[in-house]
Amino acid sequence: MYYTRGKYTKQAHVDLPDGTFEEQHGRDGFFGPVSHIYHNHAPTGWTRIEGECRPRAFYTDRVENPANDEATTLLYNNDVSLGVVRRLGATPYFERNADGDEMWFAHTGGGTLETDYGFIPFSKGDYLVIPRGVTYRFNCSSETFLLVIQSFGTPLKQPDRGMVGQYSLYDVTAIRVPELAEVDKTKGEYEVRVKREGEITKIFYPFNPLDIAGWKGNLFPWALSIQDFCPVISHRAHLPPSVHTTLVGSGFVVCSFVPRPLEETPGAMRVPFYHRNIDFDEVLFYHDGDFFSRDNIKAGMITFHPTGIHHGPHPKAMEKSWSPGKTHTDEYAVMLDTRRPLKIADAARNVEWAGYADSWK
Ligand SMILES: [Fe+2]
Repeated sequence: MYYTRGKYTKQAHVDLPDGTFEEQHGRDGFFGPVSHIYHNHAPTGWTRIEGECRPRAFYTDRVENPANDEATTLLYNNDVSLGVVRRLGATPYFERNADGDEMWFAHTGGGTLETDYGFIPFSKGDYLVIPRGVTYRFNCSSETFLLVIQSFGTPLKQPDRGMVGQYSLYDVTAIRVPELAEVDKTKGEYEVRVKREGEITKIFYPFNPLDIAGWKGNLFPWALSIQDFCPVISHRAHLPPSVHTTLVGSGFVVCSFVPRPLEETPGAMRVPFYHRNIDFDEVLFYHDGDFFSRDNIKAGMITFHPTGIHHGPHPKAMEKSWSPGKTHTDEYAVMLDTRRPLKIADAARNVEWAGYADSWK
């Protein structure tokens, strides 16, 4: 059943009725039942908010996390956690996560991810997917700042490509798998830190635990550069963020935003529509470029839009998106959308930009 009342558009996100603000009110992320509401006022035009359900922003680069320490968790629920970590040189211990798969995203720096499947060189903008149980060590050639997304229990999978075909989003040949490499064989003690139920156990070996003769199979760590991500776009109408899905976990998805041409049809919205993401909490990590739909957001920051309250473009973004010569987006960002509400760790509250909820004024 489909109803209409009053003013509305023929095509969502195109030719909005004069003076209105379009809101997409949908279920199941962007897949479920959906309606569009044409507001006479911007839904983000609140005068103030009293309570916890508010848009938030955090300066992750201000998190005090000594190099080669464990990741500092910023946001978490029972399915997934998101944190940041700094690495420099060879981490003086090996790691193994018994709780779930991990995805590390190199925001700055680079080096080699050494694993018991071989080594994967990586640099800025690389996703590193490390399945549960892999033993690994980071060996970074410069100070490296990484975002860490941990799945609790269920495997991280590639998205279903459906009708766009198996070579869309990213080609299988864009995936880099480990190559065998000469490991450090100096005599001495090698420490493996196993994380189980969040607790660390240290196991010591008289040999390098990454010293292997070979491997075969379809379970292994892998890397993908955000530069190799190919978003699905339409030149006529703005598509929902789900077309940028890069990895899928149970209870969450990870999406990549990369530079793309802007919509061309006159009257088309070129910035994300207002919405109140009622079934998913939304977290966006700003990696690089010019984040033109949000004022005062810089690389290294995170925005967090919980379910229940609207978000959408900042007031000037709509105009700016149609300014002469503006033909492309120029932003790289990583999005984590979670089915269950996220909790905010103190480490995040300590680096919060308290004025974010007022930034639509
Ligand atoms: Fe959103």
